[in-house]
Amino acid sequence: MTQYLIKGVRVLGGEPADLLLRDGVIAEVGTGLDARGAQLVDADGLVALPGLVDLHTHLREPGREDAETVETGSRAAALGGYTAVCAMANTDPVADTAGVVEQVYRLGREAGLVDVQPVGAVTVGLRGERLAELGAMASSAAAVRIFSDDGHCVADPRLMRRALEYVKAFDGVIAQHAEEPRLTEGAQMHEGEVATRLGLAGWPAVAEEAIIARDVLLAEHVDSRLHVCHVSSAGSVEILRWAKARGIRVTAEVCPHHLLLTDERATGYDPVFKVNPPLRTAADTAALRAALAEGVIDAVATDHAPHAVEDKECEWAYARPGMLGLETALSIVVEVLGPRWDLIAERMSRTPARIAGLSGHGQDLVAGAPANLTLVDPAARWTVDPAELASRSRNTPYAGMTLPARVVATFLRGAPTVLDGKALR
Ligand code: DOR
Ligand code: ZN
Repeated sequence: MTQYLIKGVRVLGGEPADLLLRDGVIAEVGTGLDARGAQLVDADGLVALPGLVDLHTHLREPGREDAETVETGSRAAALGGYTAVCAMANTDPVADTAGVVEQVYRLGREAGLVDVQPVGAVTVGLRGERLAELGAMASSAAAVRIFSDDGHCVADPRLMRRALEYVKAFDGVIAQHAEEPRLTEGAQMHEGEVATRLGLAGWPAVAEEAIIARDVLLAEHVDSRLHVCHVSSAGSVEILRWAKARGIRVTAEVCPHHLLLTDERATGYDPVFKVNPPLRTAADTAALRAALAEGVIDAVATDHAPHAVEDKECEWAYARPGMLGLETALSIVVEVLGPRWDLIAERMSRTPARIAGLSGHGQDLVAGAPANLTLVDPAARWTVDPAELASRSRNTPYAGMTLPARVVATFLRGAPTVLDGKALR
């Protein structure tokens, strides 16, 4: 296996050092290391981070391979600096059996660009009626630990309680898409002044907050682990802060788009800005940024949601919710948090790896650690061109925007998946 010697890289923005990658691990860290037959990677001016881990990726395979495949989504992930992604269960067929999660897992291994960790559905067919075969998915080759009906809320409190209880047996976690469905019937965007002006039906923040409040209490009652997907409102942050102070085992993620964009973007009725939960107000983005820095929100997750042109480039009301995220996430986080590399590594790698139970990821870049890492040019500025993205879909809300920081290289178990900003397969 080829060895790689990364010269002069600033680990988490620290002093320049050399990293020798051999046999899938970081064999040596030091200064003035010589090549000894290794392939040199000149990393002058680059920052090294542990490979990013995404808790929330829609890869669309099986079922909507026209929008994304495990392979194209994996390539987008590697280009975004990721070494592991959690593939959401709302595929067709739904990933609610050992067979489907094993299929997704196998496709991930075959693509070989990132570790694809399947998420299992909580309920059969995401219908919210009865529990899926959680135990069989956990003990399958895919070793599922995160279960989610994402796209739908597990709205029935009794079913949610049972799911939380069930996954304790294998240290699983229920990742809830918090949306009280009775409060969002027909909803098109955030309920507020902009929705009123545009004449679009509102998705009130309380629909999210009410479910989070209920679920942290359920998690406390059965002493189980809850993870809250794509937190979008200031009120949700307050509930999470309360729950954590009480010692409830809850973690939460925020998406880059909810950190940067607001409901004002809907003004042009461009469905590229339609997403679920919706873009909210500047007060919400400010609260989410502060909560992420503080740790009330544990992780950044993309909710990468590729959609085919006919599902997205249509009238707002008919468009599917969701936006691409993998290839822009790191840049958006640098834009909102600044170049705080240790904090970014915590929120985009170490903590999500811990939540997902991915022990080979999110490790500090020291000798002996798995060689899962990404090299970032902190000085780069780049303009997002949808045509240049590796995703099979084009629904990025950042088209034409100039963003800071760019991934130059990504290594998975010591082998490059991206070099010089290009995917290697
Ligand atoms: O915007 C969204 N898109 N939110 C979800 O919960 C599901 C996702 C999708 O699957 O497209
Ligand atoms: Zn969701």
